[in-house]
Amino acid sequence: MNIELNHINCFYGSHQALYDISITYPLGETIVLLGPSGAGKSSLLKVFNLLEIPTSGEMTIADLHFDFQQKPSEKLVSILRRDVGIVFQNYNLWPHLTVLDNLIEAPCQVLRLSKSEASDKAYKILQRLKIANMANRYPLHLSGGQQQRVAIARALMMEPKILLFDEPTAALDPEITSQVAEIINELSNTGITQIIVTHEVDFAKKVASQVIYMEKGKIIEQGDKTCFIHPLSKQFQAYLSH
Ligand SMILES: Nc1ncnc2c1ncn2[C@@H]1O[C@H](COP(=O)(O)OP(=O)(O)OP(=O)(O)O)[C@@H](O)[C@H]1O
Ligand SMILES: [Mg+2]
Repeated sequence: MNIELNHINCFYGSHQALYDISITYPLGETIVLLGPSGAGKSSLLKVFNLLEIPTSGEMTIADLHFDFQQKPSEKLVSILRRDVGIVFQNYNLWPHLTVLDNLIEAPCQVLRLSKSEASDKAYKILQRLKIANMANRYPLHLSGGQQQRVAIARALMMEPKILLFDEPTAALDPEITSQVAEIINELSNTGITQIIVTHEVDFAKKVASQVIYMEKGKIIEQGDKTCFIHPLSKQFQAYLSH
């Protein structure tokens, strides 16, 4: 089933952050959101798992449908968030829990997995991300790149259909940034849909199958990754040439 937004408007008080956003994507794409600071990228990203609830419009995602004329029920929002995971810019790991405990917390609480089932699963994911040897460390004893992997691993524990990333390479050096791009590309081969906010064009080019360029709460340009080579709008052209 497609991911579909129809005429989404989003306000913070009287400030409108998103204007009439309508998009449709099939599952399995890696969609990159680009645009200058304040364009509304993070706001749009957060609509997909309803960390931001639009004022109006409709959304179909992960077999659920929302019409924002009514406030969505908490139950529906929590069902949505099982399928739509998010990796935050600052990782949001629990500092007082080890890597392993960070990973198994939600699956044990939400999916009711036993501790040993969840731990087995965690080790498999940590191995896949090449950080299994860090399972018993605390997040603050890891480098930024390692914490980023743990944050990705934690999101993968819930087996999301859609994974959201807000600036996954902010504060990472170029080598680690390439490693994050590799992880995202490996994940895209598994069929998961990824939506990624970034301001790093080189990184975006490495991972994107689809591109959305925003300014001032509006979509200025959208297309497949060929729009990096042939931007249609003057604004995206100017952004790419900076
Ligand atoms: N919680 C909030 N309360 C009030 N205004 C907000 C809030 N979050 C965002 N905004 C405003 O909404 C607009 C869009 O913000 P958003 O964070 O989505 O931009 P962004 O494109 O992610 O920018 P950046 O690249 O700096 O992260 C901005 O004008 C911002 O000031
Ligand atoms: Mg942002």
